Amino acid sequence: MSRDLLGTLGDWQQRYGDMVHLRIWPEHQVVVTDPALVRELLVANHGSLIRWERGMSVFSQVHGHSVLVSEGAAWRDKRHALQPAFSPKSVQSFVPTIAETAEQALRSWPRSDTDWPIEHALTSLAMDVIVRMLFSRPMGDDAALAAQAVHTVGAAADSEFYWPASWPDAMPWKRAKRRAKATLRTLIDRHLQARLKVAPEARPDDLLTRLLQLHSDDPAAWPLQAVHDECMTAFLAGHETVAATLTWWSWCLASNPEAQREAADEVRQLLQGRAPTSQDLPELRMLNRTLQEAMRLYPAAPVLFSRRATRPVTLGAWQFPARTMFMVPVQLLHRDARWFEEPMAFRPERFAPGAPEVPRGAYMPLGAGPRVCLGQHLAMTEMTVVAALLLQRHVLSVPEGQQAPRPVLNVTLRPDKALHLRVAPVASAH
Ligand code: HEM
Repeated sequence: MSRDLLGTLGDWQQRYGDMVHLRIWPEHQVVVTDPALVRELLVANHGSLIRWERGMSVFSQVHGHSVLVSEGAAWRDKRHALQPAFSPKSVQSFVPTIAETAEQALRSWPRSDTDWPIEHALTSLAMDVIVRMLFSRPMGDDAALAAQAVHTVGAAADSEFYWPASWPDAMPWKRAKRRAKATLRTLIDRHLQARLKVAPEARPDDLLTRLLQLHSDDPAAWPLQAVHDECMTAFLAGHETVAATLTWWSWCLASNPEAQREAADEVRQLLQGRAPTSQDLPELRMLNRTLQEAMRLYPAAPVLFSRRATRPVTLGAWQFPARTMFMVPVQLLHRDARWFEEPMAFRPERFAPGAPEVPRGAYMPLGAGPRVCLGQHLAMTEMTVVAALLLQRHVLSVPEGQQAPRPVLNVTLRPDKALHLRVAPVASAH
């Protein structure tokens, strides 16, 4: 399982079906791949579940007590308070910031390159965008250091998950992790402290200002440490996933020139060379479908956080005792030939109006139920703007002789080797 989690779960699904019971002492684990039962689990039984305690305890070393790692009433109160800042209407106000940041980054790309490290470039771009949405400041000189720290913290978490407890970070061999955590904390603290010096009426309209509003409305519920923790979660959850998705999307379009051409034509016709506004985004239908299809084949979170039942749970005809652990491998649902014909083919038209219906629960790249991704609208808005601007300037193609990248689980689903693509300027390619 640790060598190839998704491959192993896929084999078991083939052999045993949509409900597989594993005995991993001392746990009883159940892998669920039936769309209706997955929804019953995440939606109807939401109140009887918490996220896997060990996973959350590892995450909380960096995320503190943010909404991502909280449970029960603490989670409900945080989620309720944060929701307005992430609503569809609210994230529209970020479109100009996203477009400006992406245009700046894309201007620094070469016009033409046969072996452009696009994954690296998209990861820095996604980091720039989340930092600008949070703090209205550029990432600046911190970028390389922060990227390294994110990587170190992620790798440490990946290895600690599988142990029942963590050694204290003070241990000598944990120096790199200690420094990485300090780097990230300092990054957030610096922005937070700088903002506190600005008078409330002079603060820019960004995520930090919205979080500080919670602090001034109710300082007992939202101490500055809570604001800090939410900034950390938005920073980490908000760029890794977007970067991974845009990377896979760029691969899908490079290897499917026809779909790329259609999406690029749509962008050109609608935008005529200008940056997209929030009103344009729903009109970029073909572009949206390419993003949805990329997230079907390569969901950035291919397995949801495992859930533990805090009381007995009924799913369909099955009854599970309290303490059962549930695993939901989203990627297996997304690649199931019962719901998606020729599942390995990249076909954006699956998401076109009139395409065959897919059962609810068979497609959930952003999760489902009350713990669905908090940043879902922000993520879709950001990715559509970045994708449109990218296609306005560049044509993507696969470097000669390059094989399809193998997806590996590395915090998010990433290509096994950093993805490089060929980029060419739009004009000369047509
Ligand atoms: C393509 C980009 C993204 C993907 C694929 C993604 C995916 C997900 C998924 C699958 C979950 C649910 C996990 C579970 O149920 O176990 C989740 C939760 C979450 N995501 Fe995202 N996410 C993305 C972008 C973002 C962004 C941009 C932000 C914030 C700025 C964000 C913040 C969060 C938070 C805070 C949670 C936890 C919500 C809770 O526990 O109530 N995500 N995300």
